[in-house]
This record gives sequence, C-alpha cells and structure tokens, in this order.
Amino acid sequence: MALYSDKVMDHFRNPRNVGKMEDADGIGEVGNAKCGDIMRMYIKVEDDIITDVKFITFGCGSAIASSSMATEMIKGMPISEALELSNKAVTEALDGLPAHKLHCSVLAEEAVRAAVKDYYDKNGIAYDPALFADCDCAHEHDHESED
Ligand code: FES
Repeated sequence: MALYSDKVMDHFRNPRNVGKMEDADGIGEVGNAKCGDIMRMYIKVEDDIITDVKFITFGCGSAIASSSMATEMIKGMPISEALELSNKAVTEALDGLPAHKLHCSVLAEEAVRAAVKDYYDKNGIAYDPALFADCDCAHEHDHESED
C-alpha cells in the first residue's frame, strides 16, 4: 500500500487556499515543537462565519496537505464549529496519514484555533480561556499581544 493516500498527494501537489491574506480578521501562527516547522493561518470572518481562509507553511508535505484540507473544511463554517475541527477529522478527510506524520496535522488544527483566538482578541469577544488551554497558540499570542 502506498504510504500516502491519493488525497494527501492531491492536496500536497495542488494545495488549496495558499498565500497571504492582506485584510485578515484573524491570524494564527503556530510552530511544531517536534520538527520546528511553522504554519500561519489567515481567516476572514463575517457574521460569525469564516468566509475566507488562507495559509502559509514552512512545513513538510503532510503539513501542506493537512492545512490545505483544513482550509477547505472550515471555509463557510461558523467559528464555533471551526474551533472543534480536530486533527483527527482532517486526517480522516485525507484518508489517513502515516503514524509518524500525524503531528503535522496537529499544526493545521492549532493554526485554525490560533487564528480564531486572534480574531476574538482583536474584536474584544469574550471566550472561555479553557478553549485554548491545551493549545500552543495561547502561548504564541501572549508574546504578540505585548506590542
Ligand atoms: Fe514538521 Fe510535518 S514534519 S510539520
């Protein structure tokens, strides 16, 4: 059996929603402690719906495929649902990733959450900090908000 599914290869070769978004409402940047790779996710929000998403990653092929799939999944979603997007759901949508590459999909999940958190913070929207407690994005943003 091939190591990577057709879907992974497709999203790796033709990633959707790649690039920078100049007028983003929320930007999330997370790093993967395991490999040192970085992912940045941009979201546009209207009436609580994620209307547009873009990402940039300095990550491996699985990270590219995971973020590409994640952007497709959350586009058009209410923010509260996007927050529930798990790396497991992304991996399943890609028809699986090799076990040693599962951490790459975590990068996509955390980047989405970091972007939502940034959106909440920028707009003074109250949220339960526990939502982000187990996520690296909470720490990332602490540094950014100091400037
Ligand atoms: Fe770093 Fe995949 S090896 S994100």
